Amino acid sequence: MRADHSGGRKHAREEGEAAATQLATARAGTAYANGDPILEVRDLVKHYPLTQGVLFKKQVGAVKAVDGVSFDLSAGETLGIVGESGCGKSTVARMLVHLERPTAGAIRYKGEDITRLSGRALKAVRRNIQMVFQDPYTSLNPRMTVGDIIGEPYEIHPEVAPKGERRRKVQDLLDVVGLNPEYINRYPHQFSGGQRQRIGIARGLALNPEIIVADEPVSALDVSVQAQVINLLDSLQSEFGLSFVFIAHDLSIVRHISDRVGVMYLGRIVEIGTDEQIYEHPTHPYTQALLSAVPVPDPMARESRERIILHGDVPSPANPPSGCRFRTRCWKAQERCALEVPLLAVPAAFRLAPGPASHDSACHFAEEKHVVASREERDTPRGEGRGPEIEAPGTAVRKRPPHDPEAQGDIQP
Ligand SMILES: Nc1ncnc2c1ncn2[C@@H]1O[C@H](COP(=O)(O)OP(=O)(O)OP(=O)(O)O)[C@@H](O)[C@H]1O
Ligand code: SF4
Ligand SMILES: [Mg+2]
Repeated sequence: MRADHSGGRKHAREEGEAAATQLATARAGTAYANGDPILEVRDLVKHYPLTQGVLFKKQVGAVKAVDGVSFDLSAGETLGIVGESGCGKSTVARMLVHLERPTAGAIRYKGEDITRLSGRALKAVRRNIQMVFQDPYTSLNPRMTVGDIIGEPYEIHPEVAPKGERRRKVQDLLDVVGLNPEYINRYPHQFSGGQRQRIGIARGLALNPEIIVADEPVSALDVSVQAQVINLLDSLQSEFGLSFVFIAHDLSIVRHISDRVGVMYLGRIVEIGTDEQIYEHPTHPYTQALLSAVPVPDPMARESRERIILHGDVPSPANPPSGCRFRTRCWKAQERCALEVPLLAVPAAFRLAPGPASHDSACHFAEEKHVVASREERDTPRGEGRGPEIEAPGTAVRKRPPHDPEAQGDIQP
């Protein structure tokens, strides 16, 4: 009897799994028009338990690394995520690509919650959401050739490239990321940092994903090489219609590549909007402080600009402040800020007056503040009714073609 029951359960589970796989595969094949939400993240939470004791571990608390993050990603869009170290950016990234399971919340890919998928259904979906990692020095196995590294995903998904076709596919990918296809048998140590990151990007593209989650993809690179890699990502997006979640510290780079930007603080998104809304019309004090710290090369502009200095350290995510988590460092904090959690929504003050300041901001006392120069101001020549010239975020990075001859030339001996 028991055998029959378990056999029946197994059969039912297999049928359920096969149906879920079919659904996931069918959804994965669904074409999404630009603008449709391909990914909907709702109230995502990741708490890491804090334990005490050696033999009998007892949970005494939790690191609230991510604590209620929601956003949409449209097909063909780049969403930038910025915030100080430790605010939970990488934890969000790892949950999006299923390297970690959320404690709570939903990640809906083409309408289906993928957080509870497992087995073949999960495998079918994972293929479509790939990651590019921060450190091109440690993320590539030094004992594998570039061909084996880029072709490794085909071992798990042989349906994408049967054995006989893999070498050609990997060479095509090397070409796409601006590297010489003849480098297929070389090892990672024979490449520069920028070239290694190109290899990491080629690996991310191997399974023809629809979404790329790039966690600080250029932070470990020299400034000149950063621009090349960013421009490569930009052109790959246009070529393949990819959607990007792009995580970085550098606000200039994020503005250059992103359509929309989310600002994170201590496990939550505090402000989100288009690049123009966030950079030119920020309403959250934390965003304003971050922007005021963006380096400005022009000494006159530097002097005329109000720099907002944040005092104190970021509180521990194991014991975040009540109410608004930013209140311990906010110069505008009032009693209400300690009592009431501000919701991420269009603040009441801007609801009746739609304009660029009318975007989601989690602050009880949201006010627009002009911190960096607008595009118009940047484009107006000096002496035509504007103040000193400011190099606004993003202007330092110039577009270049993806097939960069320099990138092919600087191979290490
Ligand atoms: N496996 C883990 N166990 C316990 N705590 C963790 C774990 N992973 C991350 N954390 C904690 O969660 C918080 C968020 O970490 P996360 O790496 O997501 O931040 P981040 O914004 O990516 O920071 P950085 O900009 O430095 O990369 C940090 O306080 C970190 O110490
Ligand atoms: S809610 Fe209060 S503490 Fe939080 S950002 Fe707004 S003013 Fe500052
Ligand atoms: Mg990180």
